Amino acid sequence: MSVHTDRKQITLATLNKMKLNSEKFTCLTSYESTMTSKICDAGVDVVLVGDSLGMVVQGHDSTLPVTMEQLIYHLECVVRGNNGAHIMADMPFMSYATDDMGFENATRLMQAGANSIKIEGGEWISKMASMLADRGIPVCAHMGLTPQAFNRIGGNFVQGRDPEKREIIISEAIALEKAGAAMLLLECVPDSLTKEIMAELKIPVIGIGAGASTDGQIMVVHDVLGISCLDKLPKFVKNFMNESNSIQEALSNYVHEVKSETFPSSEHTFY
Ligand code: KIV
Repeated sequence: MSVHTDRKQITLATLNKMKLNSEKFTCLTSYESTMTSKICDAGVDVVLVGDSLGMVVQGHDSTLPVTMEQLIYHLECVVRGNNGAHIMADMPFMSYATDDMGFENATRLMQAGANSIKIEGGEWISKMASMLADRGIPVCAHMGLTPQAFNRIGGNFVQGRDPEKREIIISEAIALEKAGAAMLLLECVPDSLTKEIMAELKIPVIGIGAGASTDGQIMVVHDVLGISCLDKLPKFVKNFMNESNSIQEALSNYVHEVKSETFPSSEHTFY
């Protein structure tokens, strides 16, 4: 537990209310307890226990090797450091390949302390999103660039630039909302596509490399703190340590810039 005063718990209702009030919300990944408590002290609304842990913690070159057991271990560490943030947990690669696997593994994450789960995909995950929602599990559908599918996609690059793919992403986002997805996460899509999706959906939309018009923004905490082993950083990444004197200040500056709509700026946006 954080040693600081208890914050009011951020719930799905809070995020929906923030959307209605046009108040931006902030999300960061975390994989362990101390960092989570610092993230909460900065006032971050959503903590994602992302399968990016495969890269930034385990040193793999993709998210594919991450297992359920490992995800749960990191989720439990995050839960112990949490103070009021909504905790979202990623379903690892192939942990929701069938409906039965999806139910069992989503249940395990919720029982370990998650408040919602995130799954990657389009129309094919809508049945699962619907059935999990019916059973009380809020689902965030991750669309656009879906890193678990990078072998099929052929790399990690901006999605939805061609008209055909663009239409597919829009219609799948609408289908997922109708099916019962509680949130949508859009990764690496052009700003104009995000705006079109935003005009169609009522659920909160979180963006990473999706421009400034989403309801919330998310970044990998290592990127915010300028800790990266990559030779070339993606365009959407901003190192907040460059203008900060401490980790705590960098996290607070991230929150401030998202809330005041100064991040992401055009230099971090795909067109
Ligand atoms: O696993 C992760 O960190 C993610 C973010 C990139 C959104 O899915």
